[in-house]
Amino acid sequence: MTADDGLRLLTPGQIGRVQTRNRFIRSATYETLADERGLPTAGYLELHRRLAAGGVGLNFTGFVSVHPSGKYTPSMPNFETDEHVEAFARVADAVHAEGGKMFVEIAHAGSQAKVAENIVAPSAVPNPAFGHNPRAAEEEEVVELVDAFGRTAGLVKEAGFDGVHVHAGHGYLVSEFLSPITNLREDRWGGSPENRLRFTLEVYRAMRAAVGPDFPIGWKLGLQDFVEGGLELEEGLAAAEALDREGVDALEGTAGLMSRKAESALQYAGVTRRRALSDKLLHRVFAEEQPEAYFVPSTRRLRERVGCTVICVGGLRRIETMEAVIEEGTADFVSLARPLIREPELVRDVEHGRRGIVACTSCNICLMHDGVHPLQCWRTSNRKLFEHAWYRVTGKLSDGY
Ligand SMILES: Cc1cc2nc3c(=O)[nH]c(=O)nc-3n(C[C@H](O)[C@H](O)[C@H](O)COP(=O)(O)O)c2cc1C
Ligand code: SF4
Repeated sequence: MTADDGLRLLTPGQIGRVQTRNRFIRSATYETLADERGLPTAGYLELHRRLAAGGVGLNFTGFVSVHPSGKYTPSMPNFETDEHVEAFARVADAVHAEGGKMFVEIAHAGSQAKVAENIVAPSAVPNPAFGHNPRAAEEEEVVELVDAFGRTAGLVKEAGFDGVHVHAGHGYLVSEFLSPITNLREDRWGGSPENRLRFTLEVYRAMRAAVGPDFPIGWKLGLQDFVEGGLELEEGLAAAEALDREGVDALEGTAGLMSRKAESALQYAGVTRRRALSDKLLHRVFAEEQPEAYFVPSTRRLRERVGCTVICVGGLRRIETMEAVIEEGTADFVSLARPLIREPELVRDVEHGRRGIVACTSCNICLMHDGVHPLQCWRTSNRKLFEHAWYRVTGKLSDGY
C-alpha cells in the first residue's frame, strides 16, 4: 500500500445524521482527568483537542457517570448541572474547531463503582474482580437509573455534542442487567432473557425520548460474557437486534462480564518480536504472538444481524487489518483505544502514508493506572517506565513527577 492507494479508512463515514471525515474512532478511554466536581479539566480538553488535531474522525469520551451512585472513581466526570454543560461544551467546541466529531459515552459503574459506599447492582451478587458486595436496586431505584440515562443524554445534546454512546459492556451496570450471572431478579427486570433485556431497552427509550429522533445514539454492547455460565453470544446478538429494531444508530460489539479487568483489552495483541525488542518487552521476544483484531469474528456476526452502523473495536494493530475490516464490510468504523494513547497523531500519519503496525504494544500499563493517574502511555521514555516501576513498588509516583 502507498499513500495513493485511496484507503477506505480515510473516506467519510456516517452514523445517523452525522458525517465524519474518516472511519477512525477514538474508542472510549477513561481519561482520569475530571476534577472533584466531575468537570473536565484543561488536560481533558487538550487530550481530546489533540486527538482531533491528529485526524481522528470521531472521538468517544471515556465513560461519564449518569448518577452519583454510578461513579467508577472520583475522577469520573458527570453531567448534572449547567456548569457541567458549559464545561463540556468547551470540549465539544475544541474538537469541532479541529474538524472532528464527538460523542459522550455515558454509563453507570454498577457493582464496579469504587466511589459509592452503597454499591448498587441488579442483584446482590459479589463482584470477584473488584471485591465488591453490591446490594440489589429497589424497583424505584431502577426506574430512577433509567431516567438518569435519559436526563444525561439530554444534557449531552444541550452541550453541543454530535451524539451519545452507552457503555453497556465490561461488567458495568447495563451489562449486569443483561447477564444471567449478575441479574438474579425475579421481578420484571430479571429472570427470562426478555426481562433481563428490559433495562437496556428502557434506557434506550428514555434516551431517545430526551434527545429526539435525529440525534445519534450509539451502543457499546457486551455481546458475550467471558465468565462461565454467563451471557452467550447468541443472546448478545439478539439484544443487538432488539436495539437495532428500536432505532439505535450504531453498535460496537465488546465483552460483557469479565473474569479479568483486561478481558476487553487483551495484552500484546499483534506484537512482533522486533516490536517486543524495541519496546523492552524482553519476556515477549520468544513468546507466541497474540492475534490482533480479536473481536472481528463476533463483529462479523453482529454485522449479519443488524442494519445500523457497525463499529469494530479490540486489538486492531496493523493499518492493513483496519483497512480490511472496512473493505470487507465487517464494520463501518474502526475504534482504537490504546494505539491512540501512544500515538494521538496516528491518523494524520496514515494520511501521510504510514502503514504496518502501530507503536502500542498492548502492554496494558496504562490500564494499571486507570482511575489513578491521567491517561498516558508509560512506554514512551525510560523515565516514564521507571515511574511506573516505582509506582508498582511503592504505590505512588516519585517526588517531582
Ligand atoms: C486505559 C483504558 C481505559 C478504558 N476506558 C474505557 C471506557 O471508559 N469506556 C469503554 O467503553 N471502554 C474503555 N476501555 C476499553 C477500550 O475502549 C477498548 O474497548 C479496548 O481497550 C480494546 O481496544 P484497543 O485494543 O484499541 O485498546 C479502556 C481501555 C483502556 C486501555
Ligand atoms: S502503556 Fe503505552 S504501549 Fe502499553 S498499552 Fe498503554 S498505550 Fe500501549
